[in-house]
Amino acid sequence: MKRFAIVLAAGQGKRMKSKLYKVLHPVCGKPMVGHVVNTVQQVHCERSVVVVGHGAEAVRSYLQDTAEYVLQEQQLGTGHAVKQAKDLLGGEEGSTLVVCGDTPLVTPETLENLLNLHESSNAAVTVLTARTDNPKGYGRIIRGEDGNVLRIVEQKDCSPEEDAVTEFNTGTYCFDNKKLFAALEKVTNQNVQQEYYLTDCVSILKEAGETVLAYQTDDYAESIGVNDRLALSQAEGYMRERINRAHMLNGVTIIDPASTYIGADVTIGSDTVLYPGTVLKGNTVIGEDCVIGPDSDIEDSVIAQGVSVKHSVLSHAEVGARASVGPFAYLRPGAKLGEDVKVGDFVEVKNAVIDNGSKVSHLSYIGDAKVGKNVNIGCGAITVNYDGYNKSVTEIEDDAFIGSNVNLVAPVKVGKGAFVVAGSTITQSVPDNDLAIARTRQENKPGYAEEIRSRAIAKKNNKS
Ligand code: UD1
Ligand code: CA
Repeated sequence: MKRFAIVLAAGQGKRMKSKLYKVLHPVCGKPMVGHVVNTVQQVHCERSVVVVGHGAEAVRSYLQDTAEYVLQEQQLGTGHAVKQAKDLLGGEEGSTLVVCGDTPLVTPETLENLLNLHESSNAAVTVLTARTDNPKGYGRIIRGEDGNVLRIVEQKDCSPEEDAVTEFNTGTYCFDNKKLFAALEKVTNQNVQQEYYLTDCVSILKEAGETVLAYQTDDYAESIGVNDRLALSQAEGYMRERINRAHMLNGVTIIDPASTYIGADVTIGSDTVLYPGTVLKGNTVIGEDCVIGPDSDIEDSVIAQGVSVKHSVLSHAEVGARASVGPFAYLRPGAKLGEDVKVGDFVEVKNAVIDNGSKVSHLSYIGDAKVGKNVNIGCGAITVNYDGYNKSVTEIEDDAFIGSNVNLVAPVKVGKGAFVVAGSTITQSVPDNDLAIARTRQENKPGYAEEIRSRAIAKKNNKS
């Protein structure tokens, strides 16, 4: 049987009280609607249609061509939203999943179970339900005496008895596609909110004598619909646990899962150890046998195997095998460290390649630079890459030695095996294997320290 999906993402999300459209709010770093669309893709739907409205452009530009789109110009309710997909999907035969863009925790396994139950029972609709003691804000599942589902009643439309029901609608459904669009024609907005409720399709199909089923998930987390920031933080908590658990089962050691934050799209190799305070974001890739943290923030970076990163911040950086970063290093966009490189304490690297085996051990700024292999950059040495208007490049070739506290005023090049003496301010390129010294020569004045001291004491006594 063919499978289709409709994801509802047109609402504004007033209860979020936000400038950001609701379905774009991130959960573990990834917009909610992104989670939902990825999940739907994993059950192999022929077509996935996202209903957009509020923030349509922003949602489309985030999801790109991972889905088809229909525009719901006015947000007249979830039933009205699904109906907008009629031109695209109305003619199809098969099963159609409807999922709300604000339920980021629903899993592919559950969707698969829902589809299987639905298809094997020849149902017109199968609703994914869950139970909780206080299903505040959710539609209640009303069953008849025989236990069969009769209808869904929104909390605002509930009688006191209905309000007491603990089984609720998660907002995920599987419909017979043709029967879905036929039922939607009969939905009205005669309710407290004056909206066209998708949930009314359930009673419409039941009354037409169709098979209406519910599939209950035991995992309350899966059912969370994020309507406000409280639910957003709950969703974040459950998602974080789920992500951490998956990495641990995959062979990653997480010393303290409660203080470790891993984005939904991060990958980590086995035998890597994450210390407390590790935050891994975006499309970060971490290899095997790394030691990350404590207290490190790594975003959209690629880290090879055997790397150590301590107390450091990395953004759009690449780190080669066995490199060591930190403590207290800052790798900014375009920082590319080769294998066995050391970038030590209080070193900042931006838009610079540092090739295999080179060391920048302490207190340096390396920006807009190309550093060769086995280069040693001494404590406090910096590239002077900016004149207030233009950025210029510093090149340091293989095996060069840059002494402590050297200023390399770009554009400038230090040749292979060259030696730059500590404290030099280098403004001209240094040929291969030359020694460059660019500082005033030292002069010692014998006994003059005593002279200076007695002058200072005399001055002080004169004042008092
Ligand atoms: C809905 C269900 C409720 C269920 C809950 C689960 C209805 C009437 N109610 O309520 O039974 O328990 O989800 O989380 O369906 N949307 C549109 N266009 C609209 C209105 C909504 O695209 O005109 C989208 C929203 O962006 C959102 C989703 O549909 O992603 C659900 O809408 P929302 O207003 O959050 O519905 P709930 O009140 O949570
Ligand atoms: Ca909702």
